Amino acid sequence: MNIVTTPDSVLEMTLAAMSRTPDERLRTVMASLTRHLHAFVQETRLTEEEFEHALDFIVGIGQATGDKKNEVVLAADLLGVSTLVALQNNQDPQGESPAALLGPFWRANAPLCTPGESIARSTTPGVPLDVTGVVRDSAGRPVAGAIVDAWQASPVGLYENQDPAQQDMNLRGRFETDADGRFRFRTVRPAGYPVPVDGPCGVLLQAQQRHPNRPAHIHFMVSKPGHKVLITQVFADDDENLESDPVFGVTRRLIGRFQPQQGNAAATLEHDFVLEPGEMKFPRPPIP
Ligand code: BEZ
Ligand code: FE
Repeated sequence: MNIVTTPDSVLEMTLAAMSRTPDERLRTVMASLTRHLHAFVQETRLTEEEFEHALDFIVGIGQATGDKKNEVVLAADLLGVSTLVALQNNQDPQGESPAALLGPFWRANAPLCTPGESIARSTTPGVPLDVTGVVRDSAGRPVAGAIVDAWQASPVGLYENQDPAQQDMNLRGRFETDADGRFRFRTVRPAGYPVPVDGPCGVLLQAQQRHPNRPAHIHFMVSKPGHKVLITQVFADDDENLESDPVFGVTRRLIGRFQPQQGNAAATLEHDFVLEPGEMKFPRPPIP
């Protein structure tokens, strides 16, 4: 009779029960996940209390997800999984720009702006910043008509959807590259900010004695039909937390050159992007 006998037999029976899954990829992924989960439970000798706590955490991140933040994405980010998936799937074989995690705050349909327009729609404190760059394909040719979608937190450390004092879509905008692949927009220098700590992820960070502060950055999503959508971030080169980003987003090539102007009263950032040929497929927005 094929019934459970020992703890090890639970794994064999679970894998056997899932083995008829017609979708091959689903079968492979679920079998691997199940093997790793069982190994984890055995390695740690997980107690019933710890198991209950883990399930409460998963329920909690779902319940803490809404219009203002996506706590499930945040949990994946804090575990390093989002960065691992981004790096593993974007190995820049032909010199394409490096990718970075999407994060929980991208919103689809940011306003389409004219070249040079400012994305600071509310009165936004901070050092004025001019951002320029060129989008190229992997052969080095400029890509005209690419959409450069940029979003960032305000210098008070909050995205507009978290902060009633900011206008809808403040510090978010999309720009189309010109015939030479160029884009340009104005904003304010981003500041570092803490990831949300008011939910289960904040409790976890505290228990692990980890600080929540991301180094200052601007997010970019660059798209053009016939190319893979590039999701990335550009970090301020002078931020004290570059080496301790709680979501592990910083790689050397993602550090931008923020150049002070007029004795620190303004700044510029020049940053180019290289797209990889492929299908233009957008991610699902983590928040509406
Ligand atoms: C962000 O950069 O928007 C972000 C990324 C991961 C966690 C929290 C915020
Ligand atoms: Fe961010």
